[in-house]
Amino acid sequence: MRVFVTGASGWIGSATVDELLAADHEVVGLARSDASAAALQGKGVTVLRGDLDDLDSLRRGVAAADGVVHLANKHDWADPAGTDRAERLAVETMLDALAGSHRPFVIANGLSYLVKDRPATESDVSPDLGPEAARGGSENLALDYVTRGVRSVIVRFAPSVHGAGDWGFVAFLAAAAREQGVSGYIGDGSTLWSAVHRSDAARLIRLGLEKAPAGTRMHAVAEEAVSTRSIAEALGEALGLPVASVEPEKADAHFGFVAEFFGLPMAASSARTRKLLGWVPTGPTLAEDIRAGAYGSGQ
Ligand SMILES: NC(=O)c1ccc[n+]([C@@H]2O[C@H](COP(=O)([O-])OP(=O)(O)OC[C@H]3O[C@@H](n4cnc5c(N)ncnc54)[C@H](OP(=O)(O)O)[C@@H]3O)[C@@H](O)[C@H]2O)c1
Repeated sequence: MRVFVTGASGWIGSATVDELLAADHEVVGLARSDASAAALQGKGVTVLRGDLDDLDSLRRGVAAADGVVHLANKHDWADPAGTDRAERLAVETMLDALAGSHRPFVIANGLSYLVKDRPATESDVSPDLGPEAARGGSENLALDYVTRGVRSVIVRFAPSVHGAGDWGFVAFLAAAAREQGVSGYIGDGSTLWSAVHRSDAARLIRLGLEKAPAGTRMHAVAEEAVSTRSIAEALGEALGLPVASVEPEKADAHFGFVAEFFGLPMAASSARTRKLLGWVPTGPTLAEDIRAGAYGSGQ
């Protein structure tokens, strides 16, 4: 397959590109900078210069491909509304270009604000708030296009897609720990996250692209429930720092923007995903990665 990948230079995107190339797919990667373009070219990717805000570049990417994997995200934590608006517009543009073609469209989402008091499952529907929802409601928008001839496949990532070189939430927790001199967890640390190694996430994306039926919600989750306290403890051990509870009202000051996510329950099951696609995660656990120094060490 010739696959258009947005976010091809990102944390998950670069592993996805490697996974697709290894499986003999061709990749057209969106790149918004010379550095990203050079990194992609070095791997044998056909570069399409463009940007999420340059909707014509997205249309060109879709036109050049048999399938699309959408992983780009502005992640502008200072302007979440602007990030969500750009996501909605970009996704709508690509879906319109795909309509009627029955080509696959794999789109990234997370597990924030899905369910509170139990692990989320693939049957849980994202809040139907239209463009006002997180990510501009792009998950439900993509699913709406199933009846318009798009093989939309959602991939909901655990809040930690981990590994050496990760610059996501756990890297921000590690940075906060270094800055504060203590590895913190919020309250009693019983809030549960889920986790997946980057290589397993990339393999799931490929499987979903190749064979998931239209309208599938996949959970890229290897560990269903990891307590936030155990994450803080692993970071404390790796960084050689004490571990302590942070009162919820002081969490913003301690952790910065990542406090909002560290306080959110994001446990999730992937039982249906595994059964449907024969996906078996094999990578290290989050705690193993942290203890192996993926987020730095105190030595
Ligand atoms: N990593 C996680 O733990 C995690 C968890 C849950 C959900 N997700 C979601 O999964 C997706 C991929 O995440 P990630 O961790 O791989 O993100 P990432 O490392 O931050 O990569 C983001 C990608 O988007 C590109 N990008 C940013 N702004 C752009 C713009 N204006 N136009 C075009 N491209 C742009 C970046 O390009 P440059 O290389 O040029 O900057 C990069 O390739 C995102 O939707 C993310 O929210 C990730």
